[in-house]
Amino acid sequence: MSSSATAPTIDTALIDIVKVTKTYPPDIMALDEVSLTVGHGEMLFLTGASGAGKTTLLKLLCFLETPTMGLIEIDKRDIGKLSGHKLQQMRQHIGVAYQDFRLLPKQTVYQNIALAMEVRYENPKFIKQRVVELLADLGLTDKIHTPTAKLSRGEQQRVSIARACANRPPLILADEPSGNLDPAATSLVMNLFHRLNEEGTTIIIATHDQTLYQKSPHRLLNLENGKLQEIIKVNFDLS
Ligand SMILES: Nc1ncnc2c1ncn2[C@@H]1O[C@H](COP(=O)(O)OP(=O)(O)OP(=O)(O)O)[C@@H](O)[C@H]1O
Ligand SMILES: [Mg+2]
Repeated sequence: MSSSATAPTIDTALIDIVKVTKTYPPDIMALDEVSLTVGHGEMLFLTGASGAGKTTLLKLLCFLETPTMGLIEIDKRDIGKLSGHKLQQMRQHIGVAYQDFRLLPKQTVYQNIALAMEVRYENPKFIKQRVVELLADLGLTDKIHTPTAKLSRGEQQRVSIARACANRPPLILADEPSGNLDPAATSLVMNLFHRLNEEGTTIIIATHDQTLYQKSPHRLLNLENGKLQEIIKVNFDLS
């Protein structure tokens, strides 16, 4: 395993969240002075009841929301101060598998995944090879030319995960990646995440699914009413 279960130091941090509060109108406190440091190459699980603030935290990290208070640094850059081209550039280094997928329904599986690579002007041959590889990894080879509107929820979920991983971004945010999957498909997804993490990708997984983190040596954090707390797991089992 490339990641450790101990908190990273500031020197090895990819993400540094300092006392971040997020409120939604009129007075919903989604995150309450959350601080978290995520190391380069870490895999980390974020859990908590429905409405606890997991998606909000991931949305702050991919610029879909802005903090009401506090500081977020990615790669030592204050993301609140990024705009225009620099923000766009940073955004391209983050792969996001959204809880609500955000696929283009009329476009095929191939087109949805390829688009993420085409915007980076990747070579068409390389794009094809990568899409085919990801679909094989995620058990979707026979759906390559199917419009995503015609897929089951579990299939759509895997397409959104493939799209998040397509460019091998240094940071992947996965919001409930097994929410619609059976155990076999969940294990395909987790195998892909583990392989990418072993190659150095930092991955944050928001999940209710205990099977994802129960036997994992990676850090587990729990959100409760917007407050973040690390869960210390003893006797984790690597079998
Ligand atoms: N755009 C919004 N406007 C107002 N309130 C919001 C908005 N987005 C989220 N909230 C509220 O913020 C709180 C945290 O929501 P969030 O979606 O982050 O929770 P979650 O932990 O991801 O939940 P789930 O497990 O159901 O996905 C909830 O009370 C939610 O109703
Ligand atoms: Mg959520």
